[in-house]
Amino acid sequence: MRKNIAAGNWKMNTDLSFGQDFVKKINDFELPSDVTVIIGVPFLSIAGLVPVSGKISIAAQNCHQEESGAYTGEISASMLKSVDCKYVILGHSERRQYFSETDELILAKMHKVMEHGMKVIYCCGEPLHVREKEEQAVFVENQLKDSICKLTKEQMENVIIAYEPIWAIGTGKTASPDQAQSMHKHIRGILLNTFGENTAAETSILYGGSVKPANAKEIFSKADVDGGLVGGASLKPDSFLDIIQSF
Ligand code: PGA
Repeated sequence: MRKNIAAGNWKMNTDLSFGQDFVKKINDFELPSDVTVIIGVPFLSIAGLVPVSGKISIAAQNCHQEESGAYTGEISASMLKSVDCKYVILGHSERRQYFSETDELILAKMHKVMEHGMKVIYCCGEPLHVREKEEQAVFVENQLKDSICKLTKEQMENVIIAYEPIWAIGTGKTASPDQAQSMHKHIRGILLNTFGENTAAETSILYGGSVKPANAKEIFSKADVDGGLVGGASLKPDSFLDIIQSF
């Protein structure tokens, strides 16, 4: 069965000492055994947090698509693997928007991450002007067709999908539980047509975009929503704990 997942995304916030205090606080609680807890932390904190992260899995927020070489300032998948990083968030809308990442590039990154035995949290989602024209279903379908639909069924076992409507990220505006469910069902349908029943049933699909303690329970209760990718509300241990307990 697919997993319930509460994943945090700290973006370009926090430092190592914040991270160490944070994971200690979370680990002091008895976390529900049926929820996988992940946090995407800045690269510099990964090596310091993995050994103390306890029940939390540590994710990177990006990585380079090449194995190694003259790419000043970049971090490779093998470097992440060497410090026991378990997941890599790829295709976040901020990477697409500010760093011009395309689905083709994201696909290359996914291959590299999986070559090194890590799992991918693949983000997709439409901007506001697309939602306003009610073209979000086709928009997200095209994102998937150019990326994860080109993976194999075996590779899909290492992919978590996060649907994050861009208009809901960091804006305080959340998709309604019904809007989330409707897109998640659509995504699961695409998985069914592309990979078959098992992949469709086993792939966790997270919702992201202003998830907070006040709305997590209702969103997570929807049939095709398997958890959340949480930005702002994952920066406070109390609110992240509430979200972890919202399944
Ligand atoms: P938010 O961010 O929860 O602050 O809206 C979500 C994300 O960008 O993953």
